Amino acid sequence: RLLEQFVPTSGSLLLGVLGDPIAHSKSPVMHHAALKAHGISGHYVPLHVKPDNLKEAIQAVRVLGFRGVNVTIPHKVEVMSYLDKIDEGAAKIGAVNTIVNDHGVLTGYNTDGIGYVRSLKDEVLPGLSGSNIVVLGAGGAARGIVHALTLEMAGSISIINRTSSKAVQLAEEWGGGTSTIRGYGEHEAEEAVSSADVIINTTSVGMHPHVDQMPVEAEWIPEGIVVSDLIYNPLKTKLLTESEARGCRVHGGLGMFVNQGAFAFEYWTGLTAPVEEMKQAVLESF
Ligand code: ATR
Repeated sequence: RLLEQFVPTSGSLLLGVLGDPIAHSKSPVMHHAALKAHGISGHYVPLHVKPDNLKEAIQAVRVLGFRGVNVTIPHKVEVMSYLDKIDEGAAKIGAVNTIVNDHGVLTGYNTDGIGYVRSLKDEVLPGLSGSNIVVLGAGGAARGIVHALTLEMAGSISIINRTSSKAVQLAEEWGGGTSTIRGYGEHEAEEAVSSADVIINTTSVGMHPHVDQMPVEAEWIPEGIVVSDLIYNPLKTKLLTESEARGCRVHGGLGMFVNQGAFAFEYWTGLTAPVEEMKQAVLESF
């Protein structure tokens, strides 16, 4: 089996996540569920790494024989300097969340956007192509999602951001493919949202503790469309509650978290990730 060559002589597959802070990460519980479902002896450890120590921590991944690690806030951009190879998509996005160690050669990937799109398709929108999608926000999360959307669909993507120049810039970077992509400022939000089939919130508006905030006015949202929010604390944001009241199909951020982990698990092990078991483990840990 592919996996056996990556298990250290100590006998257990080594995986982990590097971040600062890291204590509240749900990744260990989720990946242990995946290891258990496959009957793999392994450990997925939370590793508290301060920015000043990131370079040495990556060297430790090599010498300790970790098969792979996830990388989270605040290291996703900086870590790229310490890897041997960067996947094309991750390089374009400008951030890495998953590292695969092939006998000392480290490759960086970004599974956030592709994980998000997989969960969107699985949970609410099997047929993505032809959709008129509105992405709210133009930060790091939006970059990964726009990248993954353009890989999967032909349609229209409108990016709306408080700082309109960032939305325009993002649209330019991913333009030229099979989808029409445009960037706008907030004053154009109402018009774009009113004609959307799918709305995706990538901003932090509505995240705990600001649970009463909405990234757009509820009245603008067409009845019966798909509304998705990357936020998973709370599991159902005000945007999703209001959208549900308007007859929309809603999709929360938990699916993105689980599926970014599922892709990482698949890269490390070559096995199919047990997505349902992983999701249940995260839900039970709340
Ligand atoms: P992430 O990696 O989660 O995307 P980020 O790169 O800091 O984080 O991006 C945050 C996004 O949320 C940005 O699009 C930001 O808008 P600006 O580019 O104008 O800063 C958006 N955002 C954050 N707080 C917001 C608020 N109160 N209202 C509107 N947009 C907000």
